[in-house]
Parts: sequence; structure tokens; C-alpha cells
Amino acid sequence: MSDNLKTTLQDLESIKETVDSKLNEVKSASEVEELRINYLGRKGEITQYFKQLGKVAPEERPKLGQALNELKSYVQGKIEHAKGAFDGESETEEYVDLTLPGAVQDIGYRNPLLQVLYEIKDIFANMGFNIETGPLVETDYYNFEALNVPADHPSRDLQDTFYLENDLLLRPHTSPVQIRTMEKQKPPVRIIAPGRCFRKDTPDASHSPEFHQVEGLVVDKDISLAQLKGTLLAFARKLFGPGMQIRFRPSFFPFTEPSAEYDFSCVICKGKGCRTCKYSGWLEISGAGMVDPAVFGFVNYDPEEYTGFAWGMGVERIAMMKYQIDDIRHFYENDMRFLTQF
Ligand code: PHE
Repeated sequence: MSDNLKTTLQDLESIKETVDSKLNEVKSASEVEELRINYLGRKGEITQYFKQLGKVAPEERPKLGQALNELKSYVQGKIEHAKGAFDGESETEEYVDLTLPGAVQDIGYRNPLLQVLYEIKDIFANMGFNIETGPLVETDYYNFEALNVPADHPSRDLQDTFYLENDLLLRPHTSPVQIRTMEKQKPPVRIIAPGRCFRKDTPDASHSPEFHQVEGLVVDKDISLAQLKGTLLAFARKLFGPGMQIRFRPSFFPFTEPSAEYDFSCVICKGKGCRTCKYSGWLEISGAGMVDPAVFGFVNYDPEEYTGFAWGMGVERIAMMKYQIDDIRHFYENDMRFLTQF
């Protein structure tokens, strides 16, 4: 190999190195293009070597030709690759304005419904209640039969229950958890059962086919109606403040006797009468009563020895009172304008 060829091959090798190090420093697609023109363009450095190929001794031509071709495709590949890295970037000079405020990462918000549910659980937990849960898909037995609702009882229709196959249904209330709890433990029982319920209701400002209840159940010796009232009053005052009052109105549920509907004094007007309470001073919460002895029969509790009370509680209704929300559908629409207010 002639000295001439040797130096030329060395030159090619150093071109390769130069291109490599220059490509490491490019900051935009146009800088890459500039490099391409300098090396592979019509007057580019590598192109010039090709033009001189004819002047090289015939026996050395193949060797130089091969080296040149290799260099060319190497540089071409590198340049293509470098261009790809700038795809989609604007050609303007990059600059950072350090005076701009940072992009604030939005954090998640806890739905006000869940906030209230946590508060309710907390209050009852501090009063010594345990928390129980039950399945959302229930059997006819737990939802009706063991709650003393006979097969042909009209309340099975009135509950507006979503029925599934094989005697299964979506629970329309949390009361079946009463039965499940009493089946697995002996008195004393002191539990709440919070959870989701479903009814065939057309959504409007005060109805949602999906809603939440907190069931309560206390069973022991000498449990009285006065204790039920005391418990609900203590709860109302913990949640809404010391001025709260409650009242009971006679009602009927197959699983309690006597039964009542209970109301809280209106949190807006403090009982004086306003639009929210329709000028009655009271807001309806749910049903309650003394556990019907017939229910004890289904779970093998001796009704001569034990008495108990139970209540239901609509969580949406309480959250609406607490945050003065006028439409139950807000809880389920995940509208950020609503959620970020809490
Ligand atoms: N389960 C009843 C309802 O959903 C409420 C209730 C619970 C009534 C416990 C009495 C005792 O309407």
C-alpha cells in the first residue's frame, strides 16, 4: 500500500471521528442539515474524495472506494438518526424563561360524598361502633325474607329493586348487613354498615339509582328506644353542631317494631323554617326502630333476652345538607367545577 493511500485512509478515519463529535453537540435539526451539506453535499468533504477516486492508481482504487462507501453510509446513517431526534421540534432557538411560574400539577379531590362518609364512620367509631360490610349483590333471603318481609309482601315491589337471575338482586338498602352480622356473632352487637345501594329510580334532583346508606344496629340486654334517640341525637350534634334537634314520626318497616321516620332540624334555618325545609324546620333523614323480634328468630337470638335498635341513613342527603348541595346528581357526574369546591 502506498504512503499516499495510507494517509488518505487515515484522513477518512479522522473525518469519521470529527462527524461523530460534531453530531454530539448539535442542538437543532438545522445544525444537522448543515453538517450533512458540509460532508455529503455536492461540494461536501466526503463528496470531494469520491471525485478524486479517478486519479488514484488503479490497483488502489477498490480499497479506497470501499473505505469511502463505508464512510459515506456511516455518516448518512448517523445524520438520519440525529435528525430523527429533533422530529416535531420547532426550529426556533431554545430558551428558558426562569421568571415564568411553574406548571402546577393538579392533585386529586375527594368527592364530598366520601368526605361525609368518612366523617360519619369516624363519629360512630368513636362511639364504639364496629364497621361491617356486605355484598352489593344480595340474595332474596338476606334482603327480604330474614328481614321479616314475606314472599308476597308488597314492599318487595315498592322497594323498586333491581332483580338479577337466580334469586339475586342489587341491594336496595343496607339492612341485609344486619342479618349477616347477627348470623356470625352473638350479642352484644354494635355496628354500622356503610355502603352502596341501588333502586330503580329515575335520576332527578333528589333521586339517583345509585346511592349510599349507613345502617346502624345495636343489640344487647335492655336496649331501649330512648337509646336509639340518644344515639342519633349525639350523632347529629357531632356532625352539625350542638344546636341540632331530632324528631321521630311513627312509620312502618317489616323489620322494626315500633318503626319511625326520623328528621334532623334544618341545618340552614336552624328549625325556623326556610325554602330548603319547605318551611317545616325539619329535614327527613331515613327510617329507624326497635328490631322486630321476628328478625331475631331468623338469626337464633332469644327475643326474651335481647332487644335492639336499628336505623338507616341516606349519606347523599346528609352530604347535601352539610355542603348545601341542591342536586344529588352532582355526586356522580365527576364535574371538576363541582369537585374542586370541596
Ligand atoms: N332499610 C330502610 C330503608 O332503606 C331504613 C331502615 C333501616 C329502617 C333500619 C328501619 C331500620 O328505607
